[in-house]
Amino acid sequence: MIPKKVKEELRVRSIRNGSVIDHITAGNALNVLKILDITGTTKAIVSVAMNVPSKRLPFGRKDIVKIEDRELIPAEVDKIALIAPQATINIIRDYEVVQKNSVVLPNVITHVVRCPNLNCISNSTEPVYSKFSVLNSFMLRCNYCETIIDSDIAAYLI
Ligand SMILES: Nc1ncnc2c1ncn2[C@@H]1O[C@H](COP(=O)(O)OP(=O)(O)OP(=O)(O)O)[C@@H](O)[C@H]1O
Ligand SMILES: [Mg+2]
Ligand SMILES: [Zn+2]
Repeated sequence: MIPKKVKEELRVRSIRNGSVIDHITAGNALNVLKILDITGTTKAIVSVAMNVPSKRLPFGRKDIVKIEDRELIPAEVDKIALIAPQATINIIRDYEVVQKNSVVLPNVITHVVRCPNLNCISNSTEPVYSKFSVLNSFMLRCNYCETIIDSDIAAYLI
C-alpha cells in the first residue's frame, strides 16, 4: 500500500527535467497554459493540477502546472504575473529544484491581452500588436488608445 504522505506527493507525478509553475491562483491553470502558448497540439508532456490545498494561497487552494523538458525563461513567465501574481517558477534538473523564481510584473506587455476598444488600431487589420502599460497588478492601459482594463484581465487574453 502507498503511504498517505507519498500519495499526496503523487497527486502530480515527479518529473526528471523541466519547469514547475507552483502557487498559481486557483482557477488560472488554463490561463497560464494559454499565456505560454501551450495548446492541444503542443508536443510537450504537461501535467495540470487544479484546486490543490495550499496554506499560502487565498481560499487555501492553488493550481500547479508541470512542463517536462522545457526550462521557462523569466521573460516568458513574467506575463503570468498578470493572472497569478504569487506564482513561483521552479526549474527541475535530475528531479531536483535547481532554481526558484517569483514572477515579476513586467512594465509593458505586448500581444498578450486584447484591447477592449474595438476601434483601437490593435484590433484593426493593421499589423499592430496590442501593447499595454502595466499600471499595477490589476490595471492595464492600452498604449494606443489609452483604454484601461481594471477587472478580469484573464477575459482579455489573446
Ligand atoms: N522532480 C519534481 N517533479 C515534479 N515536481 C516537483 C519536483 N520537485 C519539486 N517539485 C514541485 O515543485 C514545487 C517546489 O518544490 P520545493 O521542493 O521547492 O517545494 P517547497 O519547499 O514547498 O517550495 P515553496 O516554498 O516554493 O512552496 C512543489 O510544488 C513540488 O511539488
Ligand atoms: Mg510548497
Ligand atoms: Zn487600445
